Amino acid sequence: MSVLGPRVRQGPRPALSRRFVAEHEGRRRYADLASVAAVAPGRGWRRVQYWTFAGVSDIGTVGQLRESSLSYDLTVITARPMGWEAPKTRGHVHTAPGLPGMSYPELYEVLEGHAGFFVQDLRPGPRATVAKLIEASAGQVVLVSAGLHHSTLNLGSTRLVVADVICRDSADEYEELEAAHGLAYYIRADGGAEVNPRYRSVPDLERSVAGGQVPDVEGSLYEQLVERPASLEWLCRPVRSAPALTRDTVKRNQGTGFRSPDGLTD
Ligand SMILES: [Fe+2]
Repeated sequence: MSVLGPRVRQGPRPALSRRFVAEHEGRRRYADLASVAAVAPGRGWRRVQYWTFAGVSDIGTVGQLRESSLSYDLTVITARPMGWEAPKTRGHVHTAPGLPGMSYPELYEVLEGHAGFFVQDLRPGPRATVAKLIEASAGQVVLVSAGLHHSTLNLGSTRLVVADVICRDSADEYEELEAAHGLAYYIRADGGAEVNPRYRSVPDLERSVAGGQVPDVEGSLYEQLVERPASLEWLCRPVRSAPALTRDTVKRNQGTGFRSPDGLTD
């Protein structure tokens, strides 16, 4: 049986395709991103930069997916830049409530458009010792390892739609990146990169293109979550990530941007 995943209708206010519902819907305006944006919002402060649909399921599997330990979410990011900066999400790191120093990984899948996944560590200073921009197109899956701050950017000229699967036990922590005024690099709408001047030190930006397979991921994430949920349960295994990422952990996260699920329990 093939499971058709959700789509997002076109239009000024994106909406889920028929038969799909979300547990929570949200949106962020340019003004909501002021604390992490390179260019302060001017007259465009009210403009919605992206929409979120969390806990998405089709009406036939609502019960199954709401009781799942995993959440399937969608994010729709407009193609309109923020000044000279490429449109992006606010950015966060995952924490595990009740488990200090632990974090969860997250799987992303591009459904429409051309994405950039920015991942970095964040140390006091602020300083970063790893900063990567992984580009991905429709159909590609990217793993964001536990403990890394991350943001999704729209690097294309059309809207971007990405899906993600994340453990429901995970919580998003935004304040650390906001204290650093955003990512270690601001990515320009023309593709260039500017160092965030608030950082005391940053590494060279490592650029890569998603490729190959993420282990244990086959077909669309939605189909896999509905048909073979046990194959994604490793996303709910928290990984130790504090007080700071070790150099070894950073090394494992370099290269393709993928990390074997086997390594997630290290
Ligand atoms: Fe996340």
